[in-house]
Amino acid sequence: MKFYASILGPLLFCLDAEHAHYLSLISLKLGLYPRYIKRPDPILKSKLWDLEFPTPLGVAAGFDKNAEVFDPLLKLGFGFVETGTVTPLAQIGNDKPRMFRLPEDSGLINRLGFNNKGLGYYTRNIMRWCNQDGNGVIGVNIGKNANTKDDISDFVAGVTALSDYASYLVINVSSPNTPGLRNLQSRINLKKLLDSVILAREISAKHPPLLIKMAPDLSDIEITDIAEVAIETNIDGIIVSNTTIERPNTLKNINKLEKGGLSGGPLFEMSTELLRNMYRLTDGKIPLIGVGGISNGVQAYAKIRAGASLIQLYSAMVYQGPRIALVIAEELASLIKKDHFSSMSEAIGADHR
Ligand SMILES: Cc1cc2nc3c(=O)[nH]c(=O)nc-3n(C[C@H](O)[C@H](O)[C@H](O)COP(=O)(O)O)c2cc1C
Repeated sequence: MKFYASILGPLLFCLDAEHAHYLSLISLKLGLYPRYIKRPDPILKSKLWDLEFPTPLGVAAGFDKNAEVFDPLLKLGFGFVETGTVTPLAQIGNDKPRMFRLPEDSGLINRLGFNNKGLGYYTRNIMRWCNQDGNGVIGVNIGKNANTKDDISDFVAGVTALSDYASYLVINVSSPNTPGLRNLQSRINLKKLLDSVILAREISAKHPPLLIKMAPDLSDIEITDIAEVAIETNIDGIIVSNTTIERPNTLKNINKLEKGGLSGGPLFEMSTELLRNMYRLTDGKIPLIGVGGISNGVQAYAKIRAGASLIQLYSAMVYQGPRIALVIAEELASLIKKDHFSSMSEAIGADHR
């Protein structure tokens, strides 16, 4: 990561965080990224929902909002990429600036508000990839427009348009920057929403796995409700978690005062604890994707031992650059071997045994 740490990173950090992100997307689109030939250790391979994952580490939603750069991201060594969040209609999101670095805390705060080019553009990108026999696992993260009159119809529109192309679908009810979105996590609302999107998925021949993505800022009762609804509706997985609206006392950078969702280092403990709880509440029967604050192999392994079948990151890529997937995969493989597991899958939920 030396080139990134000493040259590219500092250059990008001269720019506002959102511009730097935009430049990264352009570089990926133009093919201006390093090609790593090293294959991940086979111990990291796993199979879930009939999908093959070369490594359990994926890119979290929000990096590739419009499904434009998932292929280059896979080539950087990620095991899968979750694209989106996509909303039915294109929307510009909140006023800028709306993305902030907290370098001393290894954190980010964003209040982007689902800026994206809409379902039509996104679907064409995913369709093109499918028609070219694209390899790799591409998740599709679905949201609602800020000004929609009917929340459920927005999610149904996303599921209807994308079920035939997604490797898996995510119902995102947890971003903090769309007013009212998180209310869909309540027992009654979530059940109603899931019944509708599950029905919408029925029309697809592909019938992709359907997951929800939850917030870390929930009471014990709300967490239990989500676990119970997940079991009742028989969904295929839960992503734990989105960004937090909390501001831990430990935060140093002045940007802690900005409104929005906090991610990166300060989210690690909180999201891992929630992951551990969800694994327990669902008896380890619903696959979990652990995300929040992963920046090295030790943290990646901690999420797996706490109950994650797969893991994702976003913020650490901003601080460590494009080699991060390979570095974490290598560290993770050696930790798994050190504990004498014969595969990554064997280590899932090990802390609970
Ligand atoms: C700039 C930014 C934009 C994000 N956009 C989305 C999004 O559109 N949909 C979503 O589900 N999560 C989004 N997230 C949340 C991430 O997917 C992830 O859950 C969170 O950042 C925690 O992971 P991390 O600590 O590795 O960044 C976003 C995060 C960041 C930093």
